Amino acid sequence: MLRVAVIPGDGIGIEVSREATRVLERAITVFDLDIELDQWDVGAERFLRDGITLTDAEFRTLAEDRDAILLGALGDPRVKDESYVRDILLGLRLKLDLYINYRPCVLPDPSLCPLKDVPAEGIHLDIFRENTEGIYLNLGGVFREGMADEVAIQESVNTHRGVERIVRAAFQFAADRGRPSVTLVDKANAMPIEGALWRRVFDVVAQDYPEVAQNTMYVDAMAMDLVRRPERYSVLVTSNLFGDIISDLAAELTGGLGLAPSANIHPGRHALFEPVHGSAPDIAGLGTANPIGAIRCAGLLLEYFGFEAAAVAVETTVALSIREGQTTADLGGARSTQQVGEWICDNLDATMPSTQPA
Ligand code: IPM
Ligand code: MG
Repeated sequence: MLRVAVIPGDGIGIEVSREATRVLERAITVFDLDIELDQWDVGAERFLRDGITLTDAEFRTLAEDRDAILLGALGDPRVKDESYVRDILLGLRLKLDLYINYRPCVLPDPSLCPLKDVPAEGIHLDIFRENTEGIYLNLGGVFREGMADEVAIQESVNTHRGVERIVRAAFQFAADRGRPSVTLVDKANAMPIEGALWRRVFDVVAQDYPEVAQNTMYVDAMAMDLVRRPERYSVLVTSNLFGDIISDLAAELTGGLGLAPSANIHPGRHALFEPVHGSAPDIAGLGTANPIGAIRCAGLLLEYFGFEAAAVAVETTVALSIREGQTTADLGGARSTQQVGEWICDNLDATMPSTQPA
């Protein structure tokens, strides 16, 4: 029995999470899967009401009695205190030591690419973002706060162990999936201290994967080249901050943030799945948010836990919904969040992998 905690969170997280749950429940029925879901009241409403983000007891339950978390989105303009998101999302990533943030970006259809010249080969990027170190640890300090000569220091933490495990995860993924190359994205020219560690570890780990080509690229040049010729890249491995930025860019190149899923993973231990998009408070509650990023998270969850047929069915049905124009307005369709979820549910059983082309 696989136990999944669903945390809808805030804003459109609540709407898209409802559709991801709907599709996951449908997959459980159609494929007869031994998965149990429960809904968690964690987010801004509760924080504003009770002043609680996530209690220690709840954290222990998530860590010990649940195998995975399916998250909608977090963030609410009414909550000014930034520690709120840090406590929950970044807190779970750190405390569960979810060191891989895997963000696949695949262009489903050339019409959804914002580039003038869409590469004939399509775009397929698999981003491996380090998720437990870098500049996200909130280490540093402030001196003379509020004064004209205020000093603010935000430290970037990089450990050999932390770099090694994310770089190895990227190469192992490339080897397992027959992906042609792994590119290290860094800023070793301007940040040579952490850059040297990443490059040294990258070179050593790469030797274990002779069949996978290896490259390095500065992050600014990568931002440029992803717009210019994204087809050259396959698996990208990078630090927490650069991964955050590059994954938004890559998502936009492959159909928009509304489509992009992500998996925060510590293999064999725990996993948290969340769409790359945020809580989008400006469109919350309107029923216009694209639920596909969240539904794809359900697909990634199924894939990660070995429910291969169900995972393929979700991905195939999502692709079909896009091809048939059963989409929200951001993809040019006229369907609501709920209608997209329901369409995917209704078509899920008809899309068994054995009867569908990949
Ligand atoms: C993401 C988000 C988060 C991040 C924010 C909400 C802290 O942008 O998951 O990409 O920066 O990691
Ligand atoms: Mg981000």
